[in-house]
Amino acid sequence: MHTLVRGSYKMLEVKDINVSYGKVQVLWDLSLNVGKGEIVTLLGSNGAGKTTTVKAVTGLLHPSSGSIKFLNENIEKLPPYKIVKKGVTLVPEGMASFPRMSVIENLLMGAYTRQDSADDTLEQVYQIFPKLRERDKQRADTLSGGEQRMLAIGKALMSKPKLIILDEPSLGLAPNLVLTLLDVIRKLREERVNVLLVEQNVHHALEISDRGYVLEKGRMILDGKSSDLLTDDYVKKSYLGI
Ligand SMILES: Nc1ncnc2c1ncn2[C@@H]1O[C@H](COP(=O)(O)OP(=O)(O)O)[C@@H](O)[C@H]1O
Ligand SMILES: [Mg+2]
Repeated sequence: MHTLVRGSYKMLEVKDINVSYGKVQVLWDLSLNVGKGEIVTLLGSNGAGKTTTVKAVTGLLHPSSGSIKFLNENIEKLPPYKIVKKGVTLVPEGMASFPRMSVIENLLMGAYTRQDSADDTLEQVYQIFPKLRERDKQRADTLSGGEQRMLAIGKALMSKPKLIILDEPSLGLAPNLVLTLLDVIRKLREERVNVLLVEQNVHHALEISDRGYVLEKGRMILDGKSSDLLTDDYVKKSYLGI
């Protein structure tokens, strides 16, 4: 991998993982770090292995080799709920809510791994997404696409994550909603939530993140400061269409 700069103190440390679906290997010796206080973006075209990477980090898939550490503890063999308990929450691609349940029921489901009261967090989520408070009794599947995406993020926040992983959150959203979403992601940093952002909206993602990684055909080919990636010739040519 060609590295433009090295990350600082590591919160998440993925090292040389290999991941397969049955006999088909999809990720090859993949490494990636998220430092404390960072927003890190993972870029790559369709089929590059981005979703597979975040599934491995959150325990939905297990690597055949390599290690994944969160706050210095190995998590690569843990089941998903234990990883959520440690503070890593994934907002998956597409519809991430329980469609027949109401907004409030969905949000409370997000807090299922917590032993403490989630009331304060619910209030925070409603402050970030006022629309969700207005529609708290409404069935999730009757929300607009943008509102459903907000609900999915709100639900993830209810577990009080230290690291939230967003898999293509802007996919299919209207441009103005994409901007709202980016603002929300910036706010998460103020709330001291670290973010690993998977995006095809390369320009926006690099503008709001600190560092980025570029994944191609299951291998990390480039990483660096987002500001450097924005002006990198290869990134410009391959992902920004410049
Ligand atoms: N459940 C699966 N079984 C077999 N192959 C899969 C499965 N999910 C994804 N793949 C394959 O793994 C590769 C990476 O997919 P994915 O991680 O979803 O990429 P991305 O999220 O970057 O679009 C693709 O070639 C895809 O076809
Ligand atoms: Mg994907």
